[in-house]
Amino acid sequence: MAEIKRVQVAIIGAGPSGLLLGQLLHRAGIDNVIVEQRSGEYVLGRIRAGVLEQTTVDLLEEAGVAQRLHEEGLIHDGTQMSFGGRRYEINFRKLTGGKTVTVYGQTEVTRDLMEARQSEGAATIYEAADVSIHHFDSRPVVRFRKDGAKHEIACDFIAGCDGYHGVTRASVPAAAIKTFERVYPFGWLGLLSETPPVSEHLIYCNHPRGFALCSMRSMTRSRYYVQCSLDENAESWTDQMFWDELRRRVDPAAAEALVTGPSIEKSVAQLRSFVAEPMRFGKLFLAGDAAHIVPPTGAKGLNLAASDVRFLARALVEFYRDRSEAGIDHYSARALARIWKAERFSWWMTSLLHRIPDAGEFADRIQRAELDYLFSSVAAQTSLAENYVGLPFQD
Ligand code: FAD
Ligand code: DHB
Repeated sequence: MAEIKRVQVAIIGAGPSGLLLGQLLHRAGIDNVIVEQRSGEYVLGRIRAGVLEQTTVDLLEEAGVAQRLHEEGLIHDGTQMSFGGRRYEINFRKLTGGKTVTVYGQTEVTRDLMEARQSEGAATIYEAADVSIHHFDSRPVVRFRKDGAKHEIACDFIAGCDGYHGVTRASVPAAAIKTFERVYPFGWLGLLSETPPVSEHLIYCNHPRGFALCSMRSMTRSRYYVQCSLDENAESWTDQMFWDELRRRVDPAAAEALVTGPSIEKSVAQLRSFVAEPMRFGKLFLAGDAAHIVPPTGAKGLNLAASDVRFLARALVEFYRDRSEAGIDHYSARALARIWKAERFSWWMTSLLHRIPDAGEFADRIQRAELDYLFSSVAAQTSLAENYVGLPFQD
């Protein structure tokens, strides 16, 4: 016999979406449990996003987990781009009337959320096996095994925060969901090192050998990426090969300033655009990567996950506190309106900055013209800046 538990909201997945939703609901007095298939250490070991929009910072503040972020996060009031050996600056603060972004790693956001959850005694079940969801059109149930024993959670709602490969989206009948997808014919090889960043700004580089990105986690820890082919595997790149390739792709001043060192982590990420519509199926809601993926070039993945969670947490609070279903009824449309804008921006940044295999000379010249236009037009730079720092919420 399975052990049966009852909660108001069962959250599947303890990535940033699930943990942030859990924290916001917990603070609003809404009883929730998170069911995660991996261990806490495994979740913390995944090196991913690094740039937070102000709206994400605001939400982390609302969740009561922004203290370390404010102490250690780096405020960036612009970014740089290199093209044709020259470096150009896009000043967010000037172009957007004062907006900035904060560089603070996804690992740290996750750690802060995990610690808050643990200290407040909210339940997270790690290493749950064979997670499955049932009856989400009527009386939802989550089943899983833990240490060999069967468990069952009966709940009012299920939040599918289990990423692109998760079980929640896959449990929706095919006829009820429509998906849109583009897979890019290249990947990113990322390297993390205990070295000072090459510049106080992030540098996005368009180079004939392929895209490169100089990013950071702190003033002593750097994160770099180089565009690579899809069949590349991180183990076949020595640190020296990575540094040599990066140095070839950045502008001469950055190549000169680059401080190299042993890698702490190296991994390859695929680039994909993906949207599933709708994001609500009866009493099941999808949020974050479970519902959509953006290529990382616009630094939107984590921010978009936070924006879904903002809509969903407010909707559930409205449901329990005000007995109103308006928020949950509007959740999918509100979230998707924002998602498609981030999809457009991420696709555009990706097309602008990468070497697209077999695109042909016409496409190469169009890309060059687009970059020339960007660097000569305040309007084009303003559009980039507004999207990068995050569009305002329309609610
Ligand atoms: P996830 O972080 O994927 O979390 C989902 C959680 O659900 C995981 O912990 C997973 O173990 C769990 N789970 C999965 N299946 C199940 C199941 N069946 N049962 C229970 N639990 C389950 N964004 C950027 O902005 N910049 C970047 O540089 C960047 N790099 C990335 C690199 C990689 C390799 C990937 C995959 C993503 C990257 N992203 C990046 C995107 C960003 O990290 C994601 O948008 C963000 O992690 C989304 O958070 P999430 O909580 O929705 O999903
Ligand atoms: C990082 C990742 C991104 O995709 C991006 O656009 C900027 C920064 C990072 O990992 O630091």
